[in-house]
Amino acid sequence: MKIVAYGIRADEKPYLDEWGKANPEVTVASTGKLLDETTVELAKGADGVVVYQQKPYTANVLNKLASYGVKNISLRNVGVDNVDTAAVKQNGLKITNVPAYSPQAIAEFTVTELMRLLRNTKTFDRKIANGDLRWAPDVAEELNQMTVGVFATGRIGRAAIQIYRGFGAKIIAYDVFHNPELEKEGIYVDTPEELYAKSDVLSIHAPATKENEHMLNDEAFSKMKDGVYVLNPARGTLVDTDALIRALDSGKVKGAALDVYEDEVGVFNTDFGSFDKIPDERLKNLLKRDNVLVTPHIAFYTKKAVHNMVWFAMDANKSLIETGNSDKLVKF
Ligand code: COI
Repeated sequence: MKIVAYGIRADEKPYLDEWGKANPEVTVASTGKLLDETTVELAKGADGVVVYQQKPYTANVLNKLASYGVKNISLRNVGVDNVDTAAVKQNGLKITNVPAYSPQAIAEFTVTELMRLLRNTKTFDRKIANGDLRWAPDVAEELNQMTVGVFATGRIGRAAIQIYRGFGAKIIAYDVFHNPELEKEGIYVDTPEELYAKSDVLSIHAPATKENEHMLNDEAFSKMKDGVYVLNPARGTLVDTDALIRALDSGKVKGAALDVYEDEVGVFNTDFGSFDKIPDERLKNLLKRDNVLVTPHIAFYTKKAVHNMVWFAMDANKSLIETGNSDKLVKF
């Protein structure tokens, strides 16, 4: 049995080697390159491929994999929004993801960023670096006085709720699907609009779909409380960045923490050598603001998560090859 793992980073390699040792019956080949038109041939002769990338898995690449007889594809991440679903169905491909490598990693990071916003740490870091040790005017707010609106109560949303509760915040939530435990607690509101109207902090944990693209747009921001804090550790496409900038300029949004950005592919996880060389003026506009925290999609980036992404994806691929099934099979 042979599995080819694409896009393997240096921090993933030890976990991949560990997995290979624990599964000596599997030949594991790996490359640091991503799966695309130029690298798909490396999969020839394999029974499955294990991948992680943010650039699209195009119909062309998926058709080629199928033509080599490689029908088992395991993603090391959770999001499947960059997969050409028509090509998956047409070719009878089986795709698995890792739905829960560490929801806590993302939840912990989200709340960390919120605390940084509420305590004005970016401003204080800048002031202190310039020898300004005064307090005023940067008086902080306390989370225990606030209502946090959680948009989507999947694993990550629920992990975030647990942490917000530790701070004593009031929690409300919106989701099409109600979690039975949270339902009993009566935290759900009926519409996104109600969530917007009642939240001091909006914590977004929805996957990206065609329907929710730019769901946070001018209209949505206009329905939010004045001075709302917006946290997006989920997907860049959920936020209309231009509308967010307008809402920041008007003061409607008092602070934002963005671990994702709609144009992040090819920009995040790249070293440009200096701030000026970052090739995106809109991103730089956001990065320069004291009340905006932009991070390059690092919420997931913990040892536990990276380990689990590699191990769970490899296990899932092996299971697809051996049994034709996996508990992580994605239904498109
Ligand atoms: C995902 O798992 O879908 C993520 O967003 C994390 C990714 C950057 C590895």
